[in-house]
Amino acid sequence: MKMLMFCAVLVLMCAPAYVYSDNNRLLVNMTLVRNASLLGAYCLDGSLPAYHLHRGFGAGLNNWLLQFEGGGWCNDLNSCLDRAKTRRGSTRYMNKWEVFSGILSNNASLNPDFYNWNRVKIRYCDGASFAGDAKFDNGTSLLYFRGQRIWKSVVLDLLPKGLRHAKKALLSGCSAGGLAVFLHCDNFTSYLPNNASIKCLSDAGFFLDVRDIMLNHTSRTFYEDLISLQGVEQNLDKNCTMSLYYPTQCFFPQHAMRYIRTPLFVLNSAYDVYQFHHAFVPPSADPHGHWNHCKLNPAACSPAQIDTLQVRLFRT
Ligand SMILES: *[C@@H]1O[C@H](CO)[C@@H](O)[C@H](O)[C@H]1NC(C)=O
Ligand SMILES: *[C@@H]1O[C@H](CO)[C@@H](O)[C@H](O)[C@H]1NC(C)=O
Ligand SMILES: *[C@@H]1O[C@H](CO)[C@@H](O)[C@H](O)[C@H]1NC(C)=O
Ligand SMILES: *[C@@H]1O[C@H](CO)[C@@H](O)[C@H](O)[C@H]1NC(C)=O
Ligand SMILES: *[C@@H]1O[C@H](CO)[C@@H](O)[C@H](O)[C@H]1NC(C)=O
Ligand SMILES: *[C@@H]1O[C@H](CO)[C@@H](O)[C@H](O)[C@H]1NC(C)=O
Ligand SMILES: *[C@@H]1O[C@H](CO)[C@@H](O)[C@H](O)[C@H]1NC(C)=O
Ligand SMILES: *[C@@H]1O[C@H](CO)[C@@H](O)[C@H](O)[C@H]1NC(C)=O
Repeated sequence: MKMLMFCAVLVLMCAPAYVYSDNNRLLVNMTLVRNASLLGAYCLDGSLPAYHLHRGFGAGLNNWLLQFEGGGWCNDLNSCLDRAKTRRGSTRYMNKWEVFSGILSNNASLNPDFYNWNRVKIRYCDGASFAGDAKFDNGTSLLYFRGQRIWKSVVLDLLPKGLRHAKKALLSGCSAGGLAVFLHCDNFTSYLPNNASIKCLSDAGFFLDVRDIMLNHTSRTFYEDLISLQGVEQNLDKNCTMSLYYPTQCFFPQHAMRYIRTPLFVLNSAYDVYQFHHAFVPPSADPHGHWNHCKLNPAACSPAQIDTLQVRLFRT
């Protein structure tokens, strides 16, 4: 409460781009992308997309780190209509001040590589890893599936703020944002100077096209619904979609990755919680809950369960 009042007072007095909370955390102001409407780039509910920018300084003045926010997906009308009323589908419901910690921190001892770079957190409000381009309108319900346009509108907004003169740049993201890194890594490079040093970092975004323990394609079905609802296929890498019998599989990093030309660092746990709970052993594949204790505590998994998980990984 004290922290919120502190921010409110400062905003009224001088509209700062950032403040420090009373426990010394860096809080960065939200920037709405005003020009996004020119591109038809909207969050699910029609609100404007947004990012948070903390300026670089010193030796990092011309270096840029962009981070996609994560937060799952919505793959059917009902889940997207629900999401549109939350912070995952609308900037109207998001916190306007984001804590910049970890790779976004400006503290040299906590974030030695990037503390003085321009650091940007791109808010996630489309529900398809910034990759869709469609719209649903039946007269009573309206949903924008405009992730691809949101991505473009953010980059175009940042270019005149210095991104177009970047010397080094890193595109990063976690979870659904980590998947967005695979999908936009080369596109990011196309906006930057030829002589810039550009790399990508996907954290926990390597979502597998893998069969579950009942041998059903649970996760493939989930993502295929997402791709079809949100109009993602047209935005997948053309070289990849031309080469596969099922072009939608290019949404999966295991297929998309070989077409990415920008240097890419992949960070992923073999037993990533989302993957384990939703792709390998979804509730539909374990109706009697034999895996519940193992899901809650991987150390409690039986040797047979560990073997089963290993097989899922090897088959991929
Ligand atoms: C911070 O955000 C508020 C609300 O979006 C805005 O009115 C204000 O101008 C922003 N401050 C700066 C320095 O951008
Ligand atoms: C930076 O982080 C270190 C380690 O946690 C801490 O001791 C120091 O006070 C922090 N510096 C600032 C300016 O917050
Ligand atoms: C429009 O779609 C929503 C969501 O599927 C549904 O609840 C609503 O009844 C539909 N309206 C019309 C007029 O079909
Ligand atoms: C990058 O993506 C945008 C859409 O977000 C598209 O308009 C543009 O043509 C793409 N650039 C390249 C070089 O593919
Ligand atoms: C927004 O669009 C206007 C008109 O096209 C343009 O002049 C302006 O530079 C744009 N602003 C940004 C931040 O891209
Ligand atoms: C790239 O080239 C431009 C124009 O020649 C130059 O100003 C800039 O410093 C170069 N950047 C790097 C990283 O060498
Ligand atoms: C999964 O596969 C089994 C047979 O292996 C089948 O009986 C079941 O209906 C499938 N479940 C789903 C959700 O597709
Ligand atoms: C496809 O690959 C060729 C050759 O590597 C490359 O020149 C082209 O830009 C790629 N196209 C796309 C859409 O990535």
